[in-house]
Amino acid sequence: MHHLGLITGASSGIGRALAHEHARRGRDLLIVARREEELSELAEKLRSKYAVEVRVVARDLTEPTSRRDLFDLVEQEGLTVDYLFNNAGYGGAGQFYEQDWDMLSGMMELNMRAVTELMHLFLPGMVARGRGRVLNTSSTAGFMPGPVQAVYFATKAFVNSVSKAVASELQGTGVTVTALCPGAVKTEFADTAGLGDSKLFERAATPQTTAAQGYTAMESGRLEVITEVGLAVAIKGLMPFIPERLAMAGVKKIQS
Ligand SMILES: NC(=O)c1ccc[n+]([C@@H]2O[C@H](COP(=O)([O-])OP(=O)(O)OC[C@H]3O[C@@H](n4cnc5c(N)ncnc54)[C@H](OP(=O)(O)O)[C@@H]3O)[C@@H](O)[C@H]2O)c1
Repeated sequence: MHHLGLITGASSGIGRALAHEHARRGRDLLIVARREEELSELAEKLRSKYAVEVRVVARDLTEPTSRRDLFDLVEQEGLTVDYLFNNAGYGGAGQFYEQDWDMLSGMMELNMRAVTELMHLFLPGMVARGRGRVLNTSSTAGFMPGPVQAVYFATKAFVNSVSKAVASELQGTGVTVTALCPGAVKTEFADTAGLGDSKLFERAATPQTTAAQGYTAMESGRLEVITEVGLAVAIKGLMPFIPERLAMAGVKKIQS
């Protein structure tokens, strides 16, 4: 398989759109998520539309051994992952102290540990070959504390931080790490997070434009990309001057 891209969370939303971005450049894919049927349908579509090779691996990435298993499978098959898309993730709205612990614990496992472990497993090979691209799907949620989704926002703050620090360490190796930071995007995310009725998603972006922006940023080795100009201005230009309690009250209102 050539220019192989491993995409987690490819069965829907931004991950599925990233798979199209990768395949339309004639690059092969290994796509991962829990729902095998959705992955197989996508694989069929990509093979016939772009004439690329696509391998499907159904895995629950909250299983602590799943990431190592995935890496071992890649090694056993003699595959070379040149592009790693750490995209699988979910949110969950509610009062922190009332939320289901298993849901929060799984979220931290998937949004942080899986992202970190997959980078840790695949980066040594990329560095040894002197080439590689990593795109971690983070969120604008990673730039502030997020009442009503306290843990989700914190997981994305982690992704932003670890992505940028590792990217800095990798300077000069030929390997880059980019954090993709979208605002609201029309995917299954809102319903999974219990935010289906939130105003946040009324004018949400499409997964296609989000993935295209992420892919371009990854190819040029950018540290991060905030996919909406208005949000970028608010986060980088205004937020540092707004009292934190006021900013959090705004986040709480939007998400409620
Ligand atoms: N939509 C937004 O507004 C938004 C904004 C900013 C950032 N993001 C981030 O974008 C990423 C993609 O989300 P999306 O918006 O595309 O939502 P989505 O449509 O719900 O996609 C989530 C993907 O993650 C996979 N996934 C969930 N749990 C998994 C598990 N335990 N093991 C393996 N795969 C799992 C899902 O596949 P299966 O169910 O088949 O496992 C699905 O493919 C996430 O990291 C999310 O935090 C989303």
